[in-house]
Formats: sequence, structure tokens, C-alpha cells
Amino acid sequence: MASKKILVTGGAGYIGSHTAVELVRAGYEPVILDNFSNSERFIVGRVRKITGRNVPLCTGDCSVPADVAKVFKKEGRFHGIIHFAALKAVGESVAQPLRYYRNNVGGMLTMLEAADRYKVPHFVFSSSCTVYGEPDKLPVREDAPVKNAASPYGETKKIAERMLETFLQSGVPVKAVSLRYFNPIGAHPSALIGELPLGTPKNLVPFVTQTAAGIRKVLQVYGDDYKTPDGTCIRDYIHVIDLAAAHVRALGYLEKKRGPFYDIFNVGTGRGQSVLGIVKTFEKVTGVKVPYKIALRRSGDIAEIYAAAGKAKKVLGWSAKLSLEEALRSSWAWQKTLRSGKR
Ligand code: WQD
Repeated sequence: MASKKILVTGGAGYIGSHTAVELVRAGYEPVILDNFSNSERFIVGRVRKITGRNVPLCTGDCSVPADVAKVFKKEGRFHGIIHFAALKAVGESVAQPLRYYRNNVGGMLTMLEAADRYKVPHFVFSSSCTVYGEPDKLPVREDAPVKNAASPYGETKKIAERMLETFLQSGVPVKAVSLRYFNPIGAHPSALIGELPLGTPKNLVPFVTQTAAGIRKVLQVYGDDYKTPDGTCIRDYIHVIDLAAAHVRALGYLEKKRGPFYDIFNVGTGRGQSVLGIVKTFEKVTGVKVPYKIALRRSGDIAEIYAAAGKAKKVLGWSAKLSLEEALRSSWAWQKTLRSGKR
């Protein structure tokens, strides 16, 4: 049977681990490559427990050619690569731009060289809505102008997308998509895997769940003077399970194409929710109060962005199915297992 092996870089991470689970469910054989710089080893064991499969793990850095060569030497041919591995803290990237270029752009270059050298036919890239900057029109469509990113992190995603597109324009027999994520939240229903922020969470929902759990004293709401209905920023929060499923759909779509082929998809719900709306919905579904205070705006934040989700629905036959309530409920269930310290 043709290999259905998929190399999942950053596969021990938040979205990578959930996608590894969905890949097994769809009959693929994920192989995880991770250097654990921003993830924890026990998550690989949890992926194996959820799937009942001994999902192979290669420890290494996808921006180091020797590490990647070792994976191909050990695992042989791959049907596809899903490239998640990247640093993604917007604020940190402003303070450490070169580290972000080395890791995110260097990682993409190494993975494209591998796809070329080892003739991997399918490539799915984990991109981000940050490439849109502050969109002129909402909901934001894939053909919206890609603007100056508000951070080096966003720049690395724009550069990586162009590298992928121009790599394909060189005529290589590879088929690829860039998936532009909006705001992933939630956790697997088993509560065995979920978002694992190392240190103080930078993203909203893990900070909400840690505040609800009493780990953080108070949630700071970064600004309530934006031109939005309740003054707080609006984002498109998508359940990580829906997001993971979009990767499987993207692979199926590419399998039907002849290379070279490239396309771009927004992966969001198409609905916006404000910061205070997230807090109120969390309190409603969990019955747990989240103390918050209004703080100064966070630099780099845009007021509002949410996806035009029609292209993925029409072309991939994919749309987000799970509700915001379910995402927040699953985030809280995951937080509670973490609090219990069970590893
Ligand atoms: C959401 C809103 C904050 C924390 C993230 C990632 C980025 C990309 C998209 C992958 C903003 C507010 C937050 C807090 C708050 N993901 N907030 N208090 O900035 O939209 O981008 O998702 O590519 O990598 O950074 O998400 O969760 O940080 O912020 O008020 O303690 O919540 O100001 O309005 P963001 P976020």
C-alpha cells in the first residue's frame, strides 16, 4: 500500500498534537518531529494513548538540515509534510527578531529543501491570519492584500508563504497549501492534550483558564477603548479540533491535484468574538468567575479580525463545526487535569 506517512514538524505542540490524532483517525501514519523547545514530551505519550498507535517520535530541530536528514534516513519515504514547528509569541518576536527569523524562516527553508530532496509530494504549511495585518475589509478574504505584519513573527509567516509559493513556481512536482489560522482555542475532548503555554500565557484563553483555576490572580483586558461594540478587541476563535480536521481535508484536496500546485485557505469560523465576550461565555459555560481588570492596550494588537470562511467550505468541503461554548468548556476541562498535576 502506498505510504501514508506524514511528517508532522512541531507535532508535540498544541495544534500539531491534535492534528496527529486526526491524521490517525483518517488512516494516515503521522511521524512527529519536535525539539521540545516549546512543548513537552509527555504529550507524545498522550497522542499514543488517544490513538492507540505507537506514533513514532524523532527528536530534532527542523531548522537543522542534519536533524531532518536523520528523520528521512530512519523513516524513509513520506506521503506529506505538515510544517507546524515555529516560534509564535508576537511580543517575544519584537524583542528577539533574529531568533524568529532563524527558527521560523530557517525551519521553512530546511523543510522545503527536504521536500525537494526526498521528493515529498504533499506539503501543508501552518500560516496565520497575522499576515493580513489590520485588514481594510471584514470578514477578511484570502485575496485581501497581505500587509506589513505588526511583528517579526507575522513577517516570518509572510516570508515562509512566499518561499513556498516560489518553490512551487520553480516547477517541482509538489502540491502545497498554506492554511491561515485565526485564533485556535480548546482541547481534545479526552482532556489528555490541549494548549500548554510554558510560563505566563501570552494568549487570551489559557490566561482565562489559569485565572479561573486560581493560578493567576486577575485577567488583564488589554484595552476597552477600541471601536468595537464593547470596546475590546474582536478575534475569530476556532476550536483546535476543527482546525486539525482542516489539515486532513487539505491533504485529501492535494492528493487529487497534479503538481506543481499551490493554494491558500483561511481556517476560521467566520465569526468574531470580543475579549469580554470570551470572558462572559467562559463564565456561562463553566459557572466559574474570571476576575478581570481593564489595562492599557497591548502594542501590536489590531482592533478586529475574523475570517471569510467561504473558500475552505466551497473548495475543501471543510467548515468549523464546534461551538465557542464547546471550545471553552474543553479548555476548562483540560486546565483542570493540568491543575491535578497528572502528567
Ligand atoms: C487575543 C485578544 C489581546 C491576553 C494569536 C497569536 C498569533 C496567531 C493568532 C497563530 C487580543 C487580548 C490577550 C490577555 C487580553 N496565532 N488579550 N489579555 O494576539 O489575536 O494572536 O492568535 O498564528 O500567533 O498570538 O491572540 O490570544 O494573544 O489575544 O486582553 O491576557 O485577547 O489583546 O485582543 P492574538 P491573543
